[in-house]
Amino acid sequence: MPERRVPRPRRFLVCEPRHFAVQYAINPWMHPGRPVDVDLAREQWRTLVRAYRAHGHTVDSVEPVPGLPDMVFAANAAFVLGGRVFGSRFHAPQRRPEAERYETWFKTAGYDVYRPRSVTEGEGDLVWTGRYVLAGTGFRTTREAHREAQEFLGHPVIGLTLVDPRFYHLDTALFVLGDDTVCYYPEAFSPGSRGVLRRLFPDAVLATREDALAFGLNSVCDGRHVFIAPRAEALAARLAGHGYVPVPVDLSELHKAGGGIKCCTQEIH
Ligand code: ARG
Repeated sequence: MPERRVPRPRRFLVCEPRHFAVQYAINPWMHPGRPVDVDLAREQWRTLVRAYRAHGHTVDSVEPVPGLPDMVFAANAAFVLGGRVFGSRFHAPQRRPEAERYETWFKTAGYDVYRPRSVTEGEGDLVWTGRYVLAGTGFRTTREAHREAQEFLGHPVIGLTLVDPRFYHLDTALFVLGDDTVCYYPEAFSPGSRGVLRRLFPDAVLATREDALAFGLNSVCDGRHVFIAPRAEALAARLAGHGYVPVPVDLSELHKAGGGIKCCTQEIH
């Protein structure tokens, strides 16, 4: 019998895809010529928010801004730990203005925001395990930003190198199940980073390329429920075998911009 997993209520920050579009290509998933159904994207996104609330989580939202089509990907806008906000500096010029919009939200909510000097894409590349900050690099967030994050947060920041452009953010290749447990797709990482992950998380749940391509690693776990893309069936079954409860939420329309459930969700730790 797998262990009984206990959920912990979370506080999430999201942004409605009211102005969602694929107008530029800054990752291999994006094809600006192909049609996008904004109404469907909004409906799918509302399903995610409803699922969070139905499971006891608090959801706050930032007002979307016309002309910032990727603003729905709230994870990228900051990394918050112990109430300290490490802001973002986006790699792509098209996304840079998002940082200020989210900064305003945090300031209004009473937080100070640290502005990194180097490219940092929030929870897209910075992931809190309960003990360490795992930090992706290779496509977006820089090593220099990892150093800044460690200095600002005072928690150990462990750099991991991403090598596959389809998995350009750490949160497309890894998510946290609980303290000391993660789920990841090993081939998204350099050999040395795979070694680090094996040492830190010998009991990790490993995913296949199919799971990763279905955005299965772009999931959110509250300790018990795993909000996961429905096409990542094999991974969902494996997680169920470990005592987690998969909650499928389909964000297929948002996948067209290279994002899924986790990308749409920033956790305010
Ligand atoms: N189009 C966005 C970009 O390439 C998608 C961001 C997805 N976010 C994430 N946390 N992986 O920047």
